[in-house]
Amino acid sequence: MTVKEKIDQLRADLHRHNYNYYVLNAPEISDKEFDDMMRELQDLEKAHPEYMDKTSPTMRVGSDLNKNFVQVAHKYPMLSLGNTYSENEVADFYDRVKKSLNEDFEVCCELKYDGTSISLTYEDGKLVQAVTRGDGEKGDDVTDNVKTIRSIPLVLHGDYPKSFEIRGEILMPWESFEALNRERELREEPLFANPRNAASGTLKSQNSSVVANRKLDAYLYYLLGENLPGDGHYENLQAAKNWGFKISDHMHKAQTLQEIFDYIRYWDTERKNLPVATDGIVLKVNSLRQQRNLGYTAKSPRWAIAYKFQAERALTRLNKVSYQVGRTGAITPVANLDPVQLSGTIVKRASLHNADIIEGLDLHIGDLVYVEKGGEIIPKITGVDKDARGMMLGEKVRFITHCPECGSPLIRYEGEAAHYCPNETACPPQIKGKIEHFISRRAMNIDGLGPETVDLFYQVGLIKDASDLYALKVEDIMGLERMGRKSAENIIRGIEASKSVPFERVLFALGIRFVGETVAKKLAHALGEIEAIRGAGLDTLKAIDEIGEKIAQSIVAYFDNPMNDALVKRLEAAGLQFCRSEEELEGRTDKLAGLSIVISGVFAHHSRDEYKSLIEKNGGKNVGSISSKTSFILAGENMGPSKLEKAQKLGIRILNEDEFLQMLSES
Ligand code: IVH
Repeated sequence: MTVKEKIDQLRADLHRHNYNYYVLNAPEISDKEFDDMMRELQDLEKAHPEYMDKTSPTMRVGSDLNKNFVQVAHKYPMLSLGNTYSENEVADFYDRVKKSLNEDFEVCCELKYDGTSISLTYEDGKLVQAVTRGDGEKGDDVTDNVKTIRSIPLVLHGDYPKSFEIRGEILMPWESFEALNRERELREEPLFANPRNAASGTLKSQNSSVVANRKLDAYLYYLLGENLPGDGHYENLQAAKNWGFKISDHMHKAQTLQEIFDYIRYWDTERKNLPVATDGIVLKVNSLRQQRNLGYTAKSPRWAIAYKFQAERALTRLNKVSYQVGRTGAITPVANLDPVQLSGTIVKRASLHNADIIEGLDLHIGDLVYVEKGGEIIPKITGVDKDARGMMLGEKVRFITHCPECGSPLIRYEGEAAHYCPNETACPPQIKGKIEHFISRRAMNIDGLGPETVDLFYQVGLIKDASDLYALKVEDIMGLERMGRKSAENIIRGIEASKSVPFERVLFALGIRFVGETVAKKLAHALGEIEAIRGAGLDTLKAIDEIGEKIAQSIVAYFDNPMNDALVKRLEAAGLQFCRSEEELEGRTDKLAGLSIVISGVFAHHSRDEYKSLIEKNGGKNVGSISSKTSFILAGENMGPSKLEKAQKLGIRILNEDEFLQMLSES
C-alpha cells in the first residue's frame, strides 16, 4: 500500500467510526483503537503535507490560531418563520394552505430546536463551507469551528447529490451546558444564561480548539439544492440521514389538523425529557412542489409556520429585595416574591443579577413582576406590569451601597457588572464561604463536614479560617448541637484524612480568585510546589497554559496579602500537601487493580480519553466490549442501547461519572 492509500484508508475508517459514535451512538471499536488510528493519521499527514485535505478527520481537533471571520453571502437567503403562540392561528395556517392548494397535502411536524442556525454547503460529498445566519443575506464563515462538531459529517457516504446546502441548528446539550457553567462558576467567569447563548457564543469563538472542547451537537432540518432526491421534505431528510447527517427522530407527517394538535400537545410536555433545548414546533407543507406553489412573503415562507411553546412565565408581587454575599464578596440581589407556581415548582425568589438590571426595570417594592424560567438556570424577572401600579407606588429599589453583612462600603471593578464587598478577611459570609469551598467534595472533600457544620463551628468561635479545622479535637466539638461522639470522631477523622489530598486540590481549595480546578491542576503541574508559586512573577505565571493576565494578577495578589500568606503557612504547618508527591508525579495508584472497565457514552467532566488514562493510571484496564469478565461500565449520557441491554443481561454494574470519580477520590 502506498502512503497515499494508507492515508485515504485511515481517513475513511475514522469518518465511519466517528459517524457510528456521534450520530448513531453505536461505536464499533474502542476509544484506544480510535485514538491510535487518529495518531497514525496525524503522523502521516505531518510527514506528507502534500496530501493535506481540508475534510480530514484530523481537522476535528481545532486550532489555537486566532481567526477573524469572513462574511459571505448566502446563495439562498436564510429566512425566518412566521411565529405564533396560538392553536387558533395554527388552524388558520392550515386553512390558508388548504384553500390555496386546493388538493390533498401533508404537513411535516418537527421540533423547533433552540440553538443557533447554520447553513452547510457540500460539494462532491465534502463539507466546504459553514455559514451563520447573520442578517439572513450574509453571515460569518465559521467552517473551521463547525468542523470540530463531531455530529456534523466532513465527508458523506451513500447516494448524495453532487452539490447542495443543508441547514440546521447547532445546540449545546443541557448536560454540556450545565457542566460548562459549573466549570465557569468555579473559575468565577460569567455564566451563560441558557444553552442557546452558550452555543452561539461558542460558535463565534475565535479559537476553534475551544469549540472542539465544548461538546456542541447539531440537528439538520432543511435541504436546499437543484438535485434533491425527491419531492418530499420528510423523505429527503430521511435520505440525508443515510448520507451521514444527524436528523431528528421526532419528525412526523400529519394528514389532518387534529394530528398536528396531538403532536403539539405531546411535545409541549415531552420536550422536557430531551437532551437539548426546544422552544416550539415547526410545521412544514411536505411536498416541495406544493411549497413552490405557496411561495414566500417578503420575510418568510407561506408553506411553514412555527408554533412556540408558551414561555413559562408568571405574574407575582415583589415584596423585598435582599442581597447575598458570596465567598468572593460578589453581591447578588435577590427578589423576594409572593410564592407563585411556575413550570411545576413554587418560586419565591428570583435573581435580579446586578444594579444595571434593577435600574433598567425601574423596580418599585410592591410591583407586580413577570417571572420566567424558560431555559434559564435560576428564575428571573423579565418585566414589570406598570399598568397595575395604581396610585400607591412603592419605594424605588436602589442598589445598596454597603455590605449587608459587615457594613463595608461596596466597590465596583472597572468593566464588571457586579458590586463587591472588599472586606475579604472579616466579612462573615466570605469567611464561611471560603471554608465551605475548602471542604467541598472537589476540593479537600472532608467527610462529615458540610455548610451547616461550618456555620455552627464558626458561630461558636471554633474556627475563623480553614487552618483552624486542623487544630480541632473530638472533645472540642462533641456536645455541640446535634453532635454525638460518633459524628465528632467521624469529622476529625475526615479532617485528618484530608492531609493526604494531593497538592493540586489543596491549591484549588485555597479559593484564589479565578483559580478553578483546571487552572489549579496546570499550576501544580507546571510549578510543582507552593514555594515556586509564591515566588512566581506575572511572566512566569503567564507562561503556563490556560493562565492569562487576569488569573496571573489574581495569584500574585493572593500571596501579596499577608493574611493569605499566613493562612497558607499555617496549613503547611498542619501537614497538608504543598508539593506534588512521587506517586502523584506519576499519578499512579492501584485502586482499580485487576478490574476491566468499559467506557460508554458522552461525559461532562472529562473526555473519554481522560477517563481511559485515569483507569490505567489507577491500575485498571480499559476494554472495548462488554463481556462476563467486565467489572463495571463507566457510563455517560447516551450510552448505546445495545450496550445497555448487554450489561443488564450480564448483570454488570453501571457507574456514572460522579460515582466513578468518587470511587477514585476515596482512599
Ligand atoms: S426551518 C425557511 N425547522 O427557527 C424555513 N427552522 O425562525 C427555515 N429552527 O432560524 C427554517 N428548528 O434557526 C426550521 N425544525 C426546524 C427548526 C428551525 C429550529 C430555527 C431556525 C430558524 C428559526 C425560524
